[in-house]
Amino acid sequence: MSLLSYGKYLKLRELLACQELESAKVGRPAHDELLFIITHQTYELWFKQLLHEIEAVLAIMGADFVNERDVGRALHYLERVVAIQKVLLDQIDVLETMTPLDFLDFRNLLTPSSGFQSAQFRQLENKLGLRRTQRLRYNEAEYETSLDAADSASVAAAERAVSLFDVIEAWLVRTPFVRSSEFDFWREYRANVARMLDEDQATIEGRAQLSDMARRAQLEELARTRETFDSVFEPTKYEALRAAGQRRLSYPAFLAALMIMLYRDEPILQNPFRLLTALVEVDQNLSLWRYRHALMVHRMIGAKIGTGGSSGQEYLRRTVEAHRVFLDFFNLATFLIPRSLLPALPPELREQLGFRWHA
Ligand code: HEM
Repeated sequence: MSLLSYGKYLKLRELLACQELESAKVGRPAHDELLFIITHQTYELWFKQLLHEIEAVLAIMGADFVNERDVGRALHYLERVVAIQKVLLDQIDVLETMTPLDFLDFRNLLTPSSGFQSAQFRQLENKLGLRRTQRLRYNEAEYETSLDAADSASVAAAERAVSLFDVIEAWLVRTPFVRSSEFDFWREYRANVARMLDEDQATIEGRAQLSDMARRAQLEELARTRETFDSVFEPTKYEALRAAGQRRLSYPAFLAALMIMLYRDEPILQNPFRLLTALVEVDQNLSLWRYRHALMVHRMIGAKIGTGGSSGQEYLRRTVEAHRVFLDFFNLATFLIPRSLLPALPPELREQLGFRWHA
C-alpha cells in the first residue's frame, strides 16, 4: 500500500477536476467563470462545515439534561460558526472583483440553475429553525420545488428534525432559578421598571423646550413602551403578541432568557449569556450575508430576474428581514434595565450562581 500523501489525503486530483467551465464547453471560455465556480464551491464546503458544527450543537443542547461543561463546548462550536460566517461575508468581496460585463460572458449559460437550489443552504436554514410559514414564496412555489429528489429529501428531513431554535427554547424552559421560592424577582423588577418609566415621563413633562405636539408624541411613545413591558408581566399579553407573530419564544423560555441577560455577571450565567449572544451573532451574520448577497446581485444583474426565475435582488432583499430566526434574542434588549435598578439576589441564590471550590 502506498504511503499517504498530501494530495491523496485531500483528494486533490478529484477536487481540482471539479471546475468545468460552461463557457469553455461552447468554445468561448470566459476568464471569470473559474472564479465564479470556485467561489460557489468554497461556499458549499463551508456550508458543509457549518452543518457539522450545528449538528454537534444540536446533539449537545438537545439532550434531556445539559451539563454545564457541555454548554461550553456548544458555545465553542457556535463561535466557530460565527468565525466561518465572517469568511463567507468576506468572500463576497472576492467575487465582486468580477464586473457585471464579465459576468455576462457566461451568465446565460447557467439558466435555470441558481443558488436557490443549494440544498445545504436550505438545510442550514432549517437546522437553525427557519419555519416554512416565514419563507417568502416566489413564482407561487414552495421553496423545495426547485430541488431534485435527493436534495429535496435531505432538506425535508432537516425541516422535520428539531431545530437549534427548538432545543435552545426547551433548554431555557428548564432554567432552574427563574422561579426561586425565596426571590420574587418579577415583582421587584416590575416596580423598578415602573420607577424608570415614571422618571422618563417626568422628564418629558418637564422639558420646557418641547412643543405640545412633540410632548404628546413622546408621551404616546412612552405609553407604548409601558404596554410592551406589560407583556413581560402578563402572560396573556405575551401570548397575544405571540399569536400575532411578534414573539416566537414560549413565555417561560422568554423569562429565562431575560433573567440570563440581566444577571449575566453571575458566573454560572456567563456561558448561557454568551450562548444567547452567539445566536444573535449567527442570526446577524446570516442577515448580513443575505443583504450583501442581495447588493451583489443588484450590482451584477441590476433589475433583471434571477437565473432561477425570482425577481432577483428584490426577493433577496426581502428575505433579510423575513428569514430571521433568533429575533426574540435581539428584542430582549428592550427589557434590560440598568444594573443599578436590578433587584439584588438573595445571598443563598447568589452563592448558587457563583463558582465554588471545595478543597
Ligand atoms: C454573481 C454572483 C451571484 C449572482 C448574480 C446571484 C444571483 C442570485 C439570485 C438572482 C438569486 C435568487 C434566486 C434566482 O432567481 O436565481 C440567488 C439566490 C441565492 N444565491 Fe446567489 N448569486 C450570486 C452568487 C452567489 C454565491 C457566491 C452564493 C454562495 C453559495 C449564492 C448563493 C445563493 C443562495 C443560497 C440563494 C438562495 C437565497 C434565498 O432563497 O434566500 N449566490 N442568487
